[in-house]
Amino acid sequence: MKKPELGDELASAHSSDDTLALLRTRRSTPADLLGGPGPDQQTLSDMLEIAARVPDHRRVAPFRFMVFVGEACERFGATLARIFAEQTPDAEAAKIDYERQRFMRAPVVIAVISKIDPAHRTPEWEQILTSGAACQNLLIAASAHGFAAQWITEWYAYDKAVLKVLGLTEKERIAGYVYIGTAREEPKERGRPDMGSIVSMF
Ligand SMILES: Cc1cc2nc3c(=O)[nH]c(=O)nc-3n(C[C@H](O)[C@H](O)[C@H](O)COP(=O)(O)O)c2cc1C
Repeated sequence: MKKPELGDELASAHSSDDTLALLRTRRSTPADLLGGPGPDQQTLSDMLEIAARVPDHRRVAPFRFMVFVGEACERFGATLARIFAEQTPDAEAAKIDYERQRFMRAPVVIAVISKIDPAHRTPEWEQILTSGAACQNLLIAASAHGFAAQWITEWYAYDKAVLKVLGLTEKERIAGYVYIGTAREEPKERGRPDMGSIVSMF
């Protein structure tokens, strides 16, 4: 499908039973249960375009994506193992090895980076919400392309040494790492909020 050009007329609604079925039954697959195959380059680009197509008050684009595939996953895993070992001197070898393999759990991992502009008229809160929407769009796009995925943070979303290796600035944070691949086991339904307790009429 052709990417819309600026000013093109677009549909205001997309009646789709498939979309409703996906949204009603979507589930994450834990990264530990992911494997190959993953999306090819073109599919991955499409997923990222969809992820970037989110509501964004005053068009700040307060996010960016960092893609890890193949050798980059190995390289980043080695970094995680090194930092983990430095910070946990008495760590068992198996735990350090788990860190080394962490990014090998899925063929593709995308770090969604929240990129706040504090001087902008759009409140920081709204800019943060937009990066969350980008993560969710990425999950939906992965699913609609036939891939399983999980949005996680884990310790390396918050660790200063890791963020330095990734080159994040002071104003940037990891909104999430979205692992994308193929499920080795189909997920089961989990508990969902009781709608009666979260919906009210004003
Ligand atoms: C910001 C954010 C961070 C998360 N971090 C983790 C994590 O570190 N580890 C984890 O197991 N799940 C994490 N989750 C939860 C999973 O992404 C997922 O939502 C949950 O496991 C199952 O829900 P679902 O099947 O409805 O997607 C996180 C979710 C969000 C929104």
